[in-house]
Amino acid sequence: MNNVIQKNLSYKKYVIDSKLRYFKPHASKIEKTFAEEISTTLSNDPKFIAPKFFYDKKGSELFEKICGLPEYYPTMTEIQILKTVCGELNDYLDESFRLVELGSGASVKTRLILDAFFSLQKTTEYFPIDISEILTESSEMLLRDYDRLSITGIIDTYEGGLKFLRNYDDRKNLIVFLGSSFGNFSPSDGEDFLKTVNSTMKSGDLLLIGLDLVKDKQILESAYDDSIGVTAQFNLNVLSRINDELDADFDLSNFSHYSVYNDEHRRIEMYLKSLVRQSVIISKSNIRLDLEKDELIHTEYSHKYSLEQIRILLEGTGFRINRTWVDDQKYFSLTLASKF
Ligand code: TRP
Repeated sequence: MNNVIQKNLSYKKYVIDSKLRYFKPHASKIEKTFAEEISTTLSNDPKFIAPKFFYDKKGSELFEKICGLPEYYPTMTEIQILKTVCGELNDYLDESFRLVELGSGASVKTRLILDAFFSLQKTTEYFPIDISEILTESSEMLLRDYDRLSITGIIDTYEGGLKFLRNYDDRKNLIVFLGSSFGNFSPSDGEDFLKTVNSTMKSGDLLLIGLDLVKDKQILESAYDDSIGVTAQFNLNVLSRINDELDADFDLSNFSHYSVYNDEHRRIEMYLKSLVRQSVIISKSNIRLDLEKDELIHTEYSHKYSLEQIRILLEGTGFRINRTWVDDQKYFSLTLASKF
């Protein structure tokens, strides 16, 4: 235990009870990063807000809603594939593994994987890493339903949490990264990220990654611009978050959600469009943002992959693929990989 505290000094430990504890970096670390990053990325050309900032409490709730929309095929398709995967996961795991999840879930997906662990172990340790405080709520929900579970959570960026884990102990980890969240990285950031993940893994660790596949443009575009406007609300919410946390004065009615599929780069591109010429002050970032009418603030890419691209990506970042699963329509994929 002393080891944990010594090597992860910049984290504060919260013990809720014998089955739930979590770690959080000291507050100043998070706030400084947000204000600084926003100041840099909104001064870029084109202007940009990193998608990890979508997931405050409200944003995480809105995203849960998106996952239940009929147009948003990734969630239900991935669940369907996971049911097959979990039946076969035991071929790759043993009783010494814990489950690490990037992006915390109390959702169907996490539960399916936990069931696979319970068939191998008496008690299972679940280690969610999430930037949002929603982690504590979703953990409590899981603990209410499973008594053979203990949870250690980390409220931090994925990289921060994984580095924390590397210094934590020697248990084997199955790291799961679902929902095609990986597709939100730019190709070069994505490669760097996978290299970081790889460098924090021990030789027996495994990575299970969900990636969305290239498909018909119509299907893709309606998944990212639903008919009841939840996706629009989700995208716009990042501006309210900046208002609240960084003392800014965005008027949300002066912006709209805009998304489009870019064939060449095989990605959905998400923007916030400025409906008028306007200036916005972001006090804590020390900037004034000048926007033209119709100017776009880029908020997210969602890359789509071919199976061949997935192989090249993982092999190029230090992984060996154990197995890839897809659904019948070939909409979505799950790949299990180990450190090469
Ligand atoms: N990881 C999700 C995806 O790329 C995130 C997402 C879904 C999203 N819909 C969105 C992000 C709308 C911004 C706006 O599928």
